[in-house]
Amino acid sequence: MSAKKIIFLNQKGGVGKTTSVVNLGAALAILGKKVLLIDFDSQGNLSSSLSVDNGANGAYEVITKQISALEACQKTNINNLEVISANIDLAGLNIELVNLENRNFFVKEALSSLDDKFDYIIGDCPPSLGLVSVNSLVWANYVIIPMQCEYLAMEGLNSLMRTVATIKRTLNTSLEILGILFTMYNKRTKLSIEVVEDVSQYFDSLVFKTLIPRNIRLSEAPSHGLPIFSYDNSCSGAKAYYKFAQEVISRVE
Ligand SMILES: Nc1ncnc2c1ncn2[C@@H]1O[C@H](COP(=O)(O)OP(=O)(O)OP(=O)(O)O)[C@@H](O)[C@H]1O
Ligand SMILES: [Mg+2]
Repeated sequence: MSAKKIIFLNQKGGVGKTTSVVNLGAALAILGKKVLLIDFDSQGNLSSSLSVDNGANGAYEVITKQISALEACQKTNINNLEVISANIDLAGLNIELVNLENRNFFVKEALSSLDDKFDYIIGDCPPSLGLVSVNSLVWANYVIIPMQCEYLAMEGLNSLMRTVATIKRTLNTSLEILGILFTMYNKRTKLSIEVVEDVSQYFDSLVFKTLIPRNIRLSEAPSHGLPIFSYDNSCSGAKAYYKFAQEVISRVE
């Protein structure tokens, strides 16, 4: 078994990265895959969305090699779904690593022992293209770019694509963009429809067919510490993330 390593990356804040990591991960686990989610964001939203302990022994301790990656894996309420948590300690990592020659390889080295333990390892990046995000790009096989169906959605997309292309050329030749995922889609607004049309025209088959709707249940579930499938399995958000998971499987397997 060699894990498929996917990161959700967009330096824009609040576009649905964490929501997508939680619910893609849960859907894959429900479909029988062995899944690990990694919180690369010092905000720790992924950890709290799944109500795991985000005290010590999280991503920071793993990346700085104080503990092994396997020791940091925590079980969740969902079978087959584990998490490595994060907290504010991770925020200092950018500064701690900046002068080290191998600064871009810390995540890859720290996580390599997990490759034969999971089918999917999915990372939730912070809203920045800083050193932690670069490290996660060096480690991953695939990038998914979530994009909110709002005005200025494409802003920043060029620098994001450029960063991914640079890493692919220099530090990780096997890196691929798996796709662009639209989130918070509202079929009743002209703007949502136009954003999807514009981006699809430009990026064509890179755009995932599944559109994640704006759905209040998706925003409520994290406060209960649950993925959408445990909170409200029949809502439109649950159906969409389930369909998205099947699309991801068909793209990578
Ligand atoms: N499809 C959706 N429908 C309704 N609300 C959503 C949806 N997706 C995400 N949200 C809500 O929008 C907010 C931002 O989502 P989320 O935290 O997933 O974004 P993010 O990209 O991880 O943010 P950050 O950049 O701060 O890490 C959250 O309050 C979340 O509950
Ligand atoms: Mg987030």
